[in-house]
Amino acid sequence: MDFLRKAVRALIAISIFASNGFAIDLDPTSAASIKSAAKIVAGDLMSYYATNASGAIISGIPGLLTYPPYYWWEAGAMFGQMIDYWYYTNDTTYNDIVTAGLMFQVGNDNNFMPANQSKDEGNDDQLFWAFTVMSAAELNFPNPPADKPQWLALAQAVFNQLTTRWDTSLCSGGLPWQIYTFNNGYDYKNTAANGGLFQLGARLAKYTGNQTYADWANKAYDWLAQSPLLTSSYQVYDGSNSLKNCTDADQLQWTYNYGIMIGGAAYMYNYTNGSSTWATRLSGFLNNSEVFFPSTYGGNVMVEVACEVTQKCDTDQWSFKAYLARWLAISAQLAPYTADQIIPKLQGSAKAAATQCNGGNSGTACGSRWFQSTSDGNTGVGQEMSALSVIAANLIGEVTAPYSAVTGGTSKGNPSAGTGGGATQNPLVGSPITTGDKAGAGIITTLVLVTILGGGWFMVS
Ligand SMILES: *[C@@H]1O[C@H](CO)[C@@H](O)[C@H](O)[C@H]1NC(C)=O
Ligand SMILES: *[C@@H]1O[C@H](CO)[C@@H](O)[C@H](O)[C@H]1NC(C)=O
Ligand SMILES: *[C@@H]1O[C@H](CO)[C@@H](O)[C@H](O)[C@H]1NC(C)=O
Ligand SMILES: *[C@@H]1O[C@H](CO)[C@@H](O)[C@H](O)[C@H]1NC(C)=O
Ligand SMILES: *[C@@H]1O[C@H](CO)[C@@H](O)[C@H](O)[C@H]1NC(C)=O
Ligand SMILES: *[C@@H]1O[C@H](CO)[C@@H](O)[C@H](O)[C@H]1NC(C)=O
Ligand SMILES: *[C@@H]1O[C@H](CO)[C@@H](O)[C@H](O)[C@H]1NC(C)=O
Ligand SMILES: *[C@@H]1O[C@H](CO)[C@@H](O)[C@H](O)[C@H]1NC(C)=O
Repeated sequence: MDFLRKAVRALIAISIFASNGFAIDLDPTSAASIKSAAKIVAGDLMSYYATNASGAIISGIPGLLTYPPYYWWEAGAMFGQMIDYWYYTNDTTYNDIVTAGLMFQVGNDNNFMPANQSKDEGNDDQLFWAFTVMSAAELNFPNPPADKPQWLALAQAVFNQLTTRWDTSLCSGGLPWQIYTFNNGYDYKNTAANGGLFQLGARLAKYTGNQTYADWANKAYDWLAQSPLLTSSYQVYDGSNSLKNCTDADQLQWTYNYGIMIGGAAYMYNYTNGSSTWATRLSGFLNNSEVFFPSTYGGNVMVEVACEVTQKCDTDQWSFKAYLARWLAISAQLAPYTADQIIPKLQGSAKAAATQCNGGNSGTACGSRWFQSTSDGNTGVGQEMSALSVIAANLIGEVTAPYSAVTGGTSKGNPSAGTGGGATQNPLVGSPITTGDKAGAGIITTLVLVTILGGGWFMVS
C-alpha cells in the first residue's frame, strides 16, 4: 500500500510538472495547434533581433543579428524562416521588419555584397540571402516599393555573380567556398556553395521557365556528382581541398547540406515534370537523410548527429536543422510521392522540438536536443529557427505551392541583374585583413577549418 501511495504521489507530481511547465504542447496534425506553437517560437526568435515588431534593432543595424556570435549569413537565413512563417500562418506581424532588414543589406550593387561583410562573406553566405529573396518571390511575399530592388531581381543578381565565379582552374570546375582569394577557405570547394548554386538555378528555372537556369543547375549538380562530395549512393559530404584537385572529401554529414540537395532535387523533379532521373536522385538523398533520424530516438526525431549529442555544435550549426526541415517540406510539396516518407519525420520532430521549448527568460525558449523531454537550456537563434522551421513545416499540406511567373508570381525580375557596374569588383575596404578576420569567415565547422589549416585531411571521417 505504501508503494501504491508513493506511486500515486509520483504520478501527481509528474502531471503537475507537465501542466505547469511552459513546454509547448503541439498536435502536429492540427493547423490551429501548429499556428499557436509557431507564433510563440517566432516571437522568441525575433526577440534576438528587435525589441518588438516595430521596435529597436538590437544589433543597432537593420538586417544584422548581434555579432559575435551571429555572422551576417544567419540573419539572412532567419529572415527566410520568417517569410516561411508568414506563408504558413498568414501572420503579418513581422513582415515590415523583415523587408526592412533585407533591403538594408542588399549592398551598393543590389546583390547582397555589402561592403561591411567583405572579410566574412563566402558564396554560401551570399546564397542564404538569395534563398530568402527567392522564397519571397515564390510565395508572393509583399513586394518592396517599386523604387527598391525586387525579390526576383535580387536572386538573379546573386545567381549571375555565382556563375562568374565558376572556377575551372582546379578540380575541373566548381565554386570555391569563399568569394575572395584573400579569405581562408578559398581553396575549399564545398557542397553548400555548389549545392546552393544548383538549388538557386533550379528555383529560378521553375519560377521564370528560363532553361538557362536549369542548365546551370545541371552543371553544378554534375560537377558535384563527379567530385567526392556526392557518392554514387547519394551520400552528401561537406567539402574538398582544391589544392589536392578535390581528390577526397571531408566526410562529415550535415543536415543543411542534405537539405540543400533535397530542395534542389525536388525543384528539378518538378521542373522536369517528374523525370525519373531526378526522382532517383531525390530519393537517394532522402534515403540517406534518415541518418539524421536515429532509431535510438524512435526514428522520427531529427538530430544533428555530427555534433548535437555531445553539444559540440557551433553557432552556425545549431541552425542547420532548420534547413533540412524547410526543404523536406518542399520535397513533400513539389514531389508528392515523397510525402509519405517525410511527413512522419516532420510530425515527430515538431512534437519533440515543441517539448524542448520550455527554457530561457520567456519560459518558452527552445533547447537544442529535441530527443530530450525538457529543455537542455542550450538556446539561441539557430535553436529557435530550427524549432520554428520544423513546427511550421507541418502546415505544408495547407498551403499553395510556390508561384511561378506564369501561375501568379508577381515579383519583377531582371535577367541581367548583378552583372554590370562594380558588382564583381573586390569590395575590400579599409585596412588589410587580419588572421582573426580570416578565421571567422563564412559558414564552416571548426573541425573542418582546423583540418584545412593543419593539412590533416584524412583525419576527418
Ligand atoms: C516597441 O519598442 C519600442 C522601442 O524600444 C518602444 O518604444 C515601443 O513602446 C514598443 N512597442 C510595444 C508595442 O511594445
Ligand atoms: C491564409 O490565408 C489565405 C487567404 O486568406 C487562405 O486561403 C489560407 O488558407 C490561409 N492559410 C492558412 C495556413 O491559414
Ligand atoms: C556598415 O557599418 C557601419 C559602421 O558600423 C554602419 O553604420 C552601417 O550601417 C553598416 N552598413 C550595413 C549595410 O550593414
Ligand atoms: C583534376 O581532377 C579532374 C577531375 O575532377 C581531372 O579531370 C583532372 O585531370 C585533374 N587534374 C590533375 C592535374 O590531376
Ligand atoms: C513540363 O510540362 C509542361 C506542360 O506540358 C511543358 O510545357 C514543359 O515544357 C514541360 N517541361 C519540361 C522541362 O519538360
Ligand atoms: C530509397 O529507399 C526506398 C525504400 O527502401 C527504395 O525502394 C529505393 O530504391 C531507394 N532509392 C534509392 C535511390 O536509393
Ligand atoms: C509539382 O508541384 C505541384 C505543386 O505541389 C504538384 O501539384 C505537382 O504534382 C508536382 N509535379 C509532379 C510531377 O509531381
Ligand atoms: C535567361 O537567363 C539567362 C541567364 O541569366 C539570360 O541571359 C537570358 O536573357 C534569359 N532569357 C530570357 C528570355 O529572359
